[in-house]
Amino acid sequence: MPMPTPLATPAASPAATPVLELEQVSKVFRVRGAGRGERVELKAVSDISFAVSRGECLGLVGESGCGKSTLGRLSCGLLQPTAGSVRFDGEILPPAGPDSPVAGRLQMVFQDPWSSLNPRVRAGDSVAEGLEAACWQKRFPGALAEKSIASRVAEMFETVGLAGMERRYPHEFSGGQRQRIALARALVTSPDLVVCDEPVSALDASVQAQVLNAMRDLQERFGQTLLFISHNLAVVGFMCPRILVMYLGEIVEELGRERLAQGAHPYTRALAQAMPDRSSIGKKPLPVLGEIPSPLNPPSGCRFHPRCPRATEVCAEQAPDWTELAPGWRVRCHHPG
Ligand SMILES: Nc1ncnc2c1ncn2[C@@H]1O[C@H](COP(=O)(O)OP(=O)(O)OP(=O)(O)O)[C@@H](O)[C@H]1O
Ligand SMILES: [Mg+2]
Repeated sequence: MPMPTPLATPAASPAATPVLELEQVSKVFRVRGAGRGERVELKAVSDISFAVSRGECLGLVGESGCGKSTLGRLSCGLLQPTAGSVRFDGEILPPAGPDSPVAGRLQMVFQDPWSSLNPRVRAGDSVAEGLEAACWQKRFPGALAEKSIASRVAEMFETVGLAGMERRYPHEFSGGQRQRIALARALVTSPDLVVCDEPVSALDASVQAQVLNAMRDLQERFGQTLLFISHNLAVVGFMCPRILVMYLGEIVEELGRERLAQGAHPYTRALAQAMPDRSSIGKKPLPVLGEIPSPLNPPSGCRFHPRCPRATEVCAEQAPDWTELAPGWRVRCHHPG
């Protein structure tokens, strides 16, 4: 697969500065309560800290409703944190929008390849819009000096394996191809960071593997920095060397992909049992035992304790602190395995 030449982008900070850094980030939504007119607080994300280095592909995994998309949107400036800070390239991340000073440097790929493309706009024009929406040319005059928008778009279609298909309409593509277009649109501005929220969940099993292979190839050869979100541990393990496991709004374990099968947190173990290895890409994970508690009324102490086979009294009373087990491996559990 030919690699696109990166566009001239504003000088990025030294490699040591993380592209993205979250510090004690929380997000509270005010939602309807049971009573008439009642509003209650739903803490979708609680006190989360992590950083993504330049060139890294960081994974975020957890069950439905645990706050992954909320964290993804916070990381892109599509949501503002209720507490804590989100830094992009060392600076506080401003709200997303065409006038944002970091427009085009931060992109998001969403789950649904059907709704993310306008059916009346040719695929190539949708990708070109990415350049225009980012006000790329105004802000970085000369970025496209060497080539026209059309040749940049053609280059991106080639990169994602759809060479020469720019003039087709969305209905002329399969779901997997549309997700490649979404990827082309995200990559066209040479962003510093791409947040992928369940990018293959809506695709058939065989197509999932194809799109994942293309994404991994792009990531490795291009050094694209990615925050990769999925509920499927096999998919995250395939894509990401480092993984954060999320449960009910909190990160409960950070570990390398080589340790996925022997996670220290009982929740990581349960996810691994439900999704043993790469051969399970495309299959639906088995549910972890027990009901997911409501984020409106999370359990006391360790939030996983009502479902945990290792739970003791202390788990119901005290929220566990982080324990560092090895460099790059930390867990929040009173009884790490
Ligand atoms: N805009 C919003 N207003 C109110 N509540 C919200 C909003 N967005 C998310 N939530 C709630 O926050 C919690 C986390 O939702 P989120 O979409 O981040 O989960 P998720 O891990 O991405 O789930 P899934 O795997 O199903 O996509 C859920 O309880 C959800 O109902
Ligand atoms: Mg989601």
